[in-house]
Amino acid sequence: MSATPSQPVTHDPGARLSWTLRPVISTHQTDWERKREDMADVCNQCHADAWVQNYYKQFDAYVELYNEKFARPAQKIMDALYAAKVLTPTRFDEPIEYTFYELWHHEGRRGRHGASMMGPDFVQWHGAYEVAKHFYSQLVPEAERLKPGITVPFLAGAEHAWRKGLTREQIQEQIEFYRKRYQ
Ligand code: HEC
Repeated sequence: MSATPSQPVTHDPGARLSWTLRPVISTHQTDWERKREDMADVCNQCHADAWVQNYYKQFDAYVELYNEKFARPAQKIMDALYAAKVLTPTRFDEPIEYTFYELWHHEGRRGRHGASMMGPDFVQWHGAYEVAKHFYSQLVPEAERLKPGITVPFLAGAEHAWRKGLTREQIQEQIEFYRKRYQ
Protein backbone atom coordinates (compact mmCIF):
# COMPACT_ATOMS: atom_id res chain seq x y z
CA MET A 1 0.00 0.00 0.00
CA SER A 2 3.03 2.24 0.42
CA ALA A 3 4.24 4.96 -1.90
CA THR A 4 7.38 4.65 -4.04
CA PRO A 5 9.29 7.42 -5.80
CA SER A 6 6.95 6.89 -8.79
CA GLN A 7 3.64 5.93 -7.11
CA PRO A 8 1.43 7.59 -4.51
CA VAL A 9 0.27 5.71 -1.43
CA THR A 10 -3.01 3.79 -1.88
CA HIS A 11 -5.60 2.56 0.58
CA ASP A 12 -7.09 0.19 -2.01
CA PRO A 13 -5.53 -3.15 -1.02
CA GLY A 14 -6.54 -4.69 -4.38
CA ALA A 15 -4.88 -2.02 -6.52
CA ARG A 16 -1.65 -4.03 -7.02
CA LEU A 17 -2.95 -7.62 -6.98
CA SER A 18 -2.48 -9.71 -10.14
CA TRP A 19 -4.55 -12.81 -9.18
CA THR A 20 -7.84 -13.39 -7.43
CA LEU A 21 -7.38 -16.33 -5.06
CA ARG A 22 -11.03 -16.48 -3.99
CA PRO A 23 -12.91 -18.53 -6.63
CA VAL A 24 -12.78 -22.26 -7.35
CA ILE A 25 -10.39 -21.55 -10.24
CA SER A 26 -8.11 -18.53 -9.85
CA THR A 27 -8.13 -15.93 -12.61
CA HIS A 28 -6.03 -12.86 -13.29
CA GLN A 29 -7.46 -9.51 -12.27
CA THR A 30 -8.36 -7.12 -15.09
CA ASP A 31 -5.30 -5.11 -16.13
CA TRP A 32 -3.19 -7.49 -14.03
CA GLU A 33 0.12 -6.81 -15.78
CA ARG A 34 0.03 -3.15 -14.78
CA LYS A 35 -1.07 -4.05 -11.24
CA ARG A 36 1.81 -6.49 -10.95
CA GLU A 37 4.32 -3.92 -12.20
CA ASP A 38 3.06 -1.48 -9.58
CA MET A 39 3.48 -4.12 -6.86
CA ALA A 40 6.95 -5.15 -8.07
CA ASP A 41 7.93 -1.49 -8.01
CA VAL A 42 7.19 -1.54 -4.25
CA CYS A 43 9.14 -4.78 -3.69
CA ASN A 44 12.05 -3.33 -5.66
CA GLN A 45 12.48 -0.56 -3.11
CA CYS A 46 14.04 -3.17 -0.80
CA HIS A 47 14.84 -6.21 -2.99
CA ALA A 48 16.80 -6.88 -6.17
CA ASP A 49 14.56 -7.42 -9.21
CA ALA A 50 15.61 -11.10 -9.65
CA TRP A 51 14.43 -11.77 -6.07
CA VAL A 52 11.04 -10.27 -6.84
CA GLN A 53 10.72 -12.07 -10.21
CA ASN A 54 11.59 -15.38 -8.53
CA TYR A 55 8.84 -14.78 -6.00
CA TYR A 56 6.32 -14.27 -8.83
CA LYS A 57 7.61 -17.33 -10.67
CA GLN A 58 6.89 -19.53 -7.65
CA PHE A 59 3.56 -17.87 -6.90
CA ASP A 60 2.31 -18.22 -10.51
CA ALA A 61 3.53 -21.84 -10.73
CA TYR A 62 1.63 -22.78 -7.57
CA VAL A 63 -1.62 -21.12 -8.65
CA GLU A 64 -1.41 -22.67 -12.12
CA LEU A 65 -0.67 -26.12 -10.71
CA TYR A 66 -3.61 -25.86 -8.30
CA ASN A 67 -5.89 -24.58 -11.10
CA GLU A 68 -5.00 -27.09 -13.81
CA LYS A 69 -4.28 -30.23 -11.84
CA PHE A 70 -7.03 -30.05 -9.22
CA ALA A 71 -9.55 -27.19 -9.39
CA ARG A 72 -10.51 -27.42 -13.06
CA PRO A 73 -10.93 -31.24 -13.13
CA ALA A 74 -12.80 -31.12 -9.79
CA GLN A 75 -15.19 -28.51 -11.17
CA LYS A 76 -15.72 -30.56 -14.34
CA ILE A 77 -16.41 -33.71 -12.31
CA MET A 78 -19.03 -31.84 -10.26
CA ASP A 79 -20.63 -30.37 -13.41
CA ALA A 80 -20.79 -33.86 -14.94
CA LEU A 81 -22.45 -35.27 -11.79
CA TYR A 82 -25.13 -32.55 -11.88
CA ALA A 83 -25.65 -33.05 -15.62
CA ALA A 84 -26.05 -36.81 -15.08
CA LYS A 85 -28.64 -36.03 -12.35
CA VAL A 86 -26.94 -38.25 -9.78
CA LEU A 87 -26.86 -35.18 -7.51
CA THR A 88 -29.89 -33.04 -6.66
CA PRO A 89 -29.62 -29.35 -7.66
CA THR A 90 -29.78 -28.48 -3.92
CA ARG A 91 -26.32 -27.59 -2.65
CA PHE A 92 -24.87 -29.28 0.47
CA ASP A 93 -27.41 -32.10 0.73
CA GLU A 94 -24.85 -34.67 -0.48
CA PRO A 95 -21.43 -35.46 1.08
CA ILE A 96 -19.45 -34.82 -2.13
CA GLU A 97 -20.65 -31.20 -2.15
CA TYR A 98 -18.83 -30.66 1.16
CA THR A 99 -15.74 -32.44 -0.17
CA PHE A 100 -15.66 -30.19 -3.24
CA TYR A 101 -16.35 -27.03 -1.22
CA GLU A 102 -13.46 -27.72 1.17
CA LEU A 103 -11.14 -28.66 -1.67
CA TRP A 104 -11.24 -25.16 -3.15
CA HIS A 105 -12.50 -22.98 -0.32
CA HIS A 106 -10.58 -24.50 2.62
CA GLU A 107 -7.23 -26.10 1.72
CA GLY A 108 -7.39 -24.77 -1.88
CA ARG A 109 -7.51 -21.14 -0.79
CA ARG A 110 -5.10 -21.72 2.08
CA GLY A 111 -2.41 -23.07 -0.27
CA ARG A 112 -2.89 -20.21 -2.76
CA HIS A 113 -2.75 -17.60 -0.04
CA GLY A 114 0.28 -19.35 1.44
CA ALA A 115 2.04 -18.99 -1.91
CA SER A 116 1.13 -15.31 -2.14
CA MET A 117 2.33 -14.63 1.41
CA MET A 118 5.49 -16.80 1.27
CA GLY A 119 4.32 -19.31 3.89
CA PRO A 120 5.83 -22.65 2.84
CA ASP A 121 4.02 -24.67 5.51
CA PHE A 122 0.67 -23.31 4.28
CA VAL A 123 1.64 -23.96 0.65
CA GLN A 124 2.69 -27.56 1.22
CA TRP A 125 1.44 -29.20 4.40
CA HIS A 126 -1.81 -27.25 4.89
CA GLY A 127 -2.29 -26.59 1.16
CA ALA A 128 -1.13 -28.83 -1.68
CA TYR A 129 -0.88 -31.94 0.51
CA GLU A 130 -4.53 -31.69 1.62
CA VAL A 131 -5.74 -30.65 -1.83
CA ALA A 132 -4.10 -33.73 -3.40
CA LYS A 133 -5.18 -36.05 -0.58
CA HIS A 134 -8.83 -34.98 -0.71
CA PHE A 135 -8.92 -34.89 -4.52
CA TYR A 136 -7.55 -38.42 -5.02
CA SER A 137 -8.81 -40.13 -1.86
CA GLN A 138 -12.24 -38.46 -1.44
CA LEU A 139 -13.62 -36.48 -4.38
CA VAL A 140 -12.65 -38.96 -7.12
CA PRO A 141 -13.79 -42.14 -5.27
CA GLU A 142 -17.03 -40.42 -4.14
CA ALA A 143 -17.78 -39.37 -7.75
CA GLU A 144 -16.98 -42.90 -8.97
CA ARG A 145 -19.40 -44.37 -6.42
CA LEU A 146 -22.14 -42.07 -7.71
CA LYS A 147 -21.48 -42.87 -11.36
CA PRO A 148 -18.71 -45.31 -12.30
CA GLY A 149 -16.37 -44.00 -15.00
CA ILE A 150 -17.43 -40.35 -14.66
CA THR A 151 -13.98 -39.08 -13.64
CA VAL A 152 -12.03 -40.91 -16.35
CA PRO A 153 -11.98 -38.15 -19.04
CA PHE A 154 -10.93 -35.53 -16.47
CA LEU A 155 -7.96 -37.54 -15.21
CA ALA A 156 -6.52 -38.35 -18.62
CA GLY A 157 -3.92 -35.53 -18.55
CA ALA A 158 -0.19 -35.93 -17.93
CA GLU A 159 -0.59 -34.49 -14.38
CA HIS A 160 -2.45 -37.62 -13.31
CA ALA A 161 -0.43 -40.19 -15.25
CA TRP A 162 1.72 -40.95 -12.16
CA ARG A 163 -1.13 -43.12 -10.86
CA LYS A 164 -0.32 -45.70 -13.51
CA GLY A 165 3.09 -46.28 -11.94
CA LEU A 166 6.43 -46.41 -13.75
CA THR A 167 7.63 -48.79 -16.43
CA ARG A 168 10.94 -50.60 -16.00
CA GLU A 169 12.51 -48.12 -18.50
CA GLN A 170 11.19 -45.07 -16.63
CA ILE A 171 12.58 -46.39 -13.33
CA GLN A 172 15.96 -46.92 -15.01
CA GLU A 173 15.86 -43.37 -16.44
CA GLN A 174 15.25 -41.93 -12.98
CA ILE A 175 18.06 -43.94 -11.42
CA GLU A 176 20.42 -42.66 -14.12
CA PHE A 177 19.22 -39.08 -13.68
CA TYR A 178 19.94 -39.11 -9.94
CA ARG A 179 23.26 -40.98 -10.34
CA LYS A 180 24.47 -38.34 -12.79
CA ARG A 181 23.23 -35.46 -10.70
CA TYR A 182 24.53 -36.61 -7.30
CA GLN A 183 27.27 -39.07 -8.38
C1 HEC B 1 10.39 -2.31 3.29
C2 HEC B 1 11.30 -3.25 2.66
C3 HEC B 1 10.66 -4.45 1.96
C4 HEC B 1 9.67 -4.45 1.00
C5 HEC B 1 8.92 -3.26 0.42
C6 HEC B 1 9.51 -5.83 0.62
N1 HEC B 1 10.35 -6.63 1.33
FE1 HEC B 1 10.54 -8.63 1.14
N2 HEC B 1 11.78 -8.68 2.73
C7 HEC B 1 12.28 -7.57 3.37
C8 HEC B 1 13.15 -8.00 4.46
C9 HEC B 1 13.91 -7.10 5.41
C10 HEC B 1 13.13 -9.42 4.44
C11 HEC B 1 13.85 -10.38 5.37
C12 HEC B 1 12.95 -10.65 6.56
C13 HEC B 1 13.55 -11.69 7.45
O1 HEC B 1 14.42 -12.46 7.05
O2 HEC B 1 13.10 -11.74 8.61
C14 HEC B 1 12.26 -9.80 3.33
C15 HEC B 1 12.00 -11.10 2.97
C16 HEC B 1 11.43 -11.47 1.75
C17 HEC B 1 11.40 -12.80 1.22
C18 HEC B 1 11.99 -14.05 1.87
C19 HEC B 1 10.95 -14.67 2.75
C20 HEC B 1 11.48 -15.92 3.41
O3 HEC B 1 10.67 -16.64 3.97
O4 HEC B 1 12.70 -16.18 3.38
C21 HEC B 1 10.77 -12.73 0.02
C22 HEC B 1 10.49 -13.89 -0.96
C23 HEC B 1 10.37 -11.36 -0.19
N3 HEC B 1 10.80 -10.62 0.89
C24 HEC B 1 9.67 -10.89 -1.28
C25 HEC B 1 9.10 -9.63 -1.33
C26 HEC B 1 8.10 -9.23 -2.30
C27 HEC B 1 7.55 -10.13 -3.41
C28 HEC B 1 7.78 -7.94 -2.02
C29 HEC B 1 6.75 -7.07 -2.70
C30 HEC B 1 5.40 -7.64 -2.76
C31 HEC B 1 8.59 -7.54 -0.87
N4 HEC B 1 9.34 -8.60 -0.49
C32 HEC B 1 8.59 -6.27 -0.32
C33 HEC B 1 12.03 -6.26 3.05
C34 HEC B 1 11.06 -5.84 2.16
